[in-house]
Amino acid sequence: LKTKYDLLLKKNQRRTGSFFYTVPSSKVYPFQWLWDSCFHSIIYTHFNLDNAKSEIISLLNGQWKNGMLPHILFWEQKRLPNSIHNIGFRTKETSSITQPPLIAYSVEQIYKKSNDSAFVKKIFNKIHKYYVWLHLNRAVKYIPVIIHPWESGLDDFPLWDFVYGLKNPSKEQLIKNKKQLLNEYLNYLNISQKSNNTKTNAKPSKQYLKKSKFAVKSLLFNSIYLRSLYSMLFLAKQLKLRQYSYYSNLIPKVEKQFKLQFFNKKKNIFISLNKKRQFTDMLSFEIFMPLFAGIATQNQADYAVSFLVDKTKFWLKNPVPVLPLCSPYFHPEKYWRGTTWININWFIIKGLQNYGYDAIAKKIKQKSISLVKKTGFYEYFSPLEYKGFGPNDFTWSGLIFDM
Ligand code: GLC
Repeated sequence: LKTKYDLLLKKNQRRTGSFFYTVPSSKVYPFQWLWDSCFHSIIYTHFNLDNAKSEIISLLNGQWKNGMLPHILFWEQKRLPNSIHNIGFRTKETSSITQPPLIAYSVEQIYKKSNDSAFVKKIFNKIHKYYVWLHLNRAVKYIPVIIHPWESGLDDFPLWDFVYGLKNPSKEQLIKNKKQLLNEYLNYLNISQKSNNTKTNAKPSKQYLKKSKFAVKSLLFNSIYLRSLYSMLFLAKQLKLRQYSYYSNLIPKVEKQFKLQFFNKKKNIFISLNKKRQFTDMLSFEIFMPLFAGIATQNQADYAVSFLVDKTKFWLKNPVPVLPLCSPYFHPEKYWRGTTWININWFIIKGLQNYGYDAIAKKIKQKSISLVKKTGFYEYFSPLEYKGFGPNDFTWSGLIFDM
């Protein structure tokens, strides 16, 4: 399997000048994506540490002056006609929105494997600037808000239907909505599709949060944010950096607000919040994300795990679907609407390990490996049978090597 994956990596690696990065898939996703590259660098810690570091350095080359890390870096790749990646948001060099902020966690993994403090020192300020940007521009009561479905990384997640106010939307409707939302944001930032000033100091997005139709406090995004703040604290401590106090001051406030805002006492689980800061009403894999962050109590984790091992919910032939089988929105083949994803399994496994559920974590690991062995390195999978969807050269499915 490793040999097969090695070939996939070679196929998906790109160089632009002195920069090295890996595309999510050679044909379907031919650019560099933010959270994909964070996953890639974690995978590279098992193959080639230099590549792990280069992947991060390339990502940071796309950083805006205000600190924002864009979710796509186009580099010099050609546009694809008729591709969804061509719509609305495309400026010359990068996209104008971000993605789950996993980067500090990835750098922590690289540091733990390489002990390379010079590497961390070289990039620490840039990463720090990104987390400061998230806090200053996006956080409302310490919890960052996302302003587009793409920022969640879960493009067609049914939870967003409610935010749009749509029932059973068609693929076309979803695309139209994404386009519209993006154009509104670009208008606000005053960036035209053709402009090439993406690296200028764009306006702060905080005022935008009030008027945007889509302003969600995502449990996935924020669990990754909080876990990454711990990584920043750890790295700053190891290297004795002055930013240590920024994180030691901020973290208790974020933790307090995380519990206060996301934990639904009636249901006894953590839930994402909609635009009106109300709990959204849809059971999904997101309930396991606070275990990855390490913010759930043992009792809260135990309760969430009871959903995980339930055969009417998440424990299917190929766990873990993003929606439970019992959900009215569950679909075993539709994009982010009930399918199984290797990156989601990876988050869940890390979370289970934090709370002593090693045996269940091991089962999910074995099942994830069998799934990839029997089908291929697909983008996503049916939870009900051995069947993969999307491109079968999808780089982050190599996260099976870090489980
Ligand atoms: C899709 C996924 C997103 C990913 C991107 C590139 O848009 O939903 O999470 O980052 O593809 O792989």
